[in-house]
Amino acid sequence: MPQSSVIVAPSLLAADFSKLGDEVAAIERAGADWLHLDIMDGHFVPNISFGPSILKSLRKRTALPFDVHLMIAPADPYLAAFAEAGADHILIHPESGPHPHRSLQAIAALGKKAGLVLNPGTPLAHVAPLIDLLDIILVMSVNPGFGGQKFLRTQLPRIAELRRLIDESGQQIRLEVDGGVDAHTAPLCIEAGADALVAGTAVFGSADYAAAIAAIRGTAHA
Ligand code: DX5
Ligand code: ZN
Repeated sequence: MPQSSVIVAPSLLAADFSKLGDEVAAIERAGADWLHLDIMDGHFVPNISFGPSILKSLRKRTALPFDVHLMIAPADPYLAAFAEAGADHILIHPESGPHPHRSLQAIAALGKKAGLVLNPGTPLAHVAPLIDLLDIILVMSVNPGFGGQKFLRTQLPRIAELRRLIDESGQQIRLEVDGGVDAHTAPLCIEAGADALVAGTAVFGSADYAAAIAAIRGTAHA
């Protein structure tokens, strides 16, 4: 079964970069559970975002867990830097190479929660051999690299399949979805078995962050 309450993790990528500290404080006040940080290198994905120095600065402004999504290749040389900068969760793509099992072990050795990210075209077969090392599985519901893309409904049966795998494993693993999540697509993800939702545009593009977060969590009119 999904872990009880649905986690909402606003993605900083959609925030106003001229006032990041204030944006993070605002989403914490608005009820965010985690802060999702998208790290892009212009090589693994065709966009460049920010690195550990931004995390280190923001770490002073919030107690929210930092959910760090590494879209970089290779990832291993940077794991310690992100851990030291304040990451709580470090998530890698298996395609970052050269060896996801080693990367996940390295994240655990740094004392951080480890996650595996599955692109829309990445086979779910990657999960089973690594499941013992996972605290989080993140399903991309867009191609990674940019915010504001349309949610891919083709990912819903994959979320449901991963929910079955997690339940069979008996482990405490969060099932997170990232890309095009808003008040309309969030219920589909939750219905399929997700229990953590990333949302960039739907939160930071809204005039009322608290209302946007509640709408995604499904508690807007509770
Ligand atoms: C895309 C990133 C996402 C992105 C989501 O590569 O991994 O976290 O910020 O943005 P929205 O919610 O706007 O699709
Ligand atoms: Zn992300």
